[in-house]
Amino acid sequence: MGISTPHGGTLINRFVDQNKVADLTEKAASLPCLSLSAREISDLELIATGVFSPLEGFMGRADYLNVLQSMHLADGLPWTLPITLSVTAEEAASLKEGMEIALADESGLILALLQIEEKFPLTQKDKEKEARLAYGTEDHAHPGVAYTHRLGDFLLAGKIDMLRRPAAQDFQEHRLEPAQTRKVFTEKGWDRIVAFQTRNPVHRAHEYIQKCAMEITDGLLLHPIVGETKAGDIPADVRMDCYKVLLENYYPKDRTVLSVFPAAMRYAGPREAIFHALCRKNYGVTHFIVGRDHAGVGNYYGTYDAQNIFKEFKASELDIQPLFFDHSFYCKRCLGMASAKTCSHEASERIALSGTKVREMLGEGIRPPQEFSRPEVADILIKSMSKH
Ligand code: ADX
Repeated sequence: MGISTPHGGTLINRFVDQNKVADLTEKAASLPCLSLSAREISDLELIATGVFSPLEGFMGRADYLNVLQSMHLADGLPWTLPITLSVTAEEAASLKEGMEIALADESGLILALLQIEEKFPLTQKDKEKEARLAYGTEDHAHPGVAYTHRLGDFLLAGKIDMLRRPAAQDFQEHRLEPAQTRKVFTEKGWDRIVAFQTRNPVHRAHEYIQKCAMEITDGLLLHPIVGETKAGDIPADVRMDCYKVLLENYYPKDRTVLSVFPAAMRYAGPREAIFHALCRKNYGVTHFIVGRDHAGVGNYYGTYDAQNIFKEFKASELDIQPLFFDHSFYCKRCLGMASAKTCSHEASERIALSGTKVREMLGEGIRPPQEFSRPEVADILIKSMSKH
């Protein structure tokens, strides 16, 4: 097998030549400059480093509409979520197609140049359509829908030229870009590599499905998302401490790689499962875990919608093997982790704790049972809660 081919065939790299950075920075200083949000900066970095291959910039109208309507880019490659750059009507007024502009962070540090290939309106109706198609709901209580409605009323599209990485990035020693993970997997001689997306501390159910997958692959890429998440999700630095202590105590060192996925969480359920899988393919992995309610929020999606959506694509066009897992739990009769596929006992024999219940216990300094969470992980969560 070997590491996977990037989506579209080539790993995109939109960083300019190192020896041109100084000249282009000087040139950028005289261009109109847009200040990007944290989410846009993250998208910019993911385009530049090839995580979003084959995208070379922010989407134009044809890609945007195709993605929403048919889950494919205009050229026919699967892609399920819009990657766009919005501006307000006031900002849009002075920007014209064909212009070059600078993209900066909030402090004014110029990160990239953008050649505006298209400028097109994003009306209230368009936002409603995006919400309906990408998130399957128009409910403003959905965090992805709320984000869409906060966008400006115009979109800018075009290729980017990246001058530098965003300043002050966290988790430096666990921040491998696709070119680097590909190198690591090749050096390790891994042929079958499984990635695990997560936005939560790893509990026993997560550990179980990861380890089932590790039984049939050469190695695991534990790939927590560390971009924007919604209020109420556990902060990335706390989760990273949990992942480290878990790997240290319960996983074979030579069979795991811990690295961060610096994307924003979209909470788009099924569409995000495909998006997550394609991004992970660009990091070089061959297999991707999709469990219960992947990337879900509230009750917007059915428990296995994120698995069923894979049937809407040909295996060859996705070219990454999804590994589906049923809802997993600890069974007191089996004396082990299981799912309905492997355990015949009554629900009353299963240890099931709601997120709310777990948060309550941790908040009171009580470790959830070992069957639910490793004590080392629980202790980190208890400590972090006592600080807030
Ligand atoms: S997610 O938003 O990143 O999907 P989370 O970190 O909870 O949230 O889940 C990570 C992965 O584990 C997802 O593929 C999810 O479907 C899966 N998963 C979470 N809990 C369970 C469980 N109890 N049984 C089976 N799969 C699960």
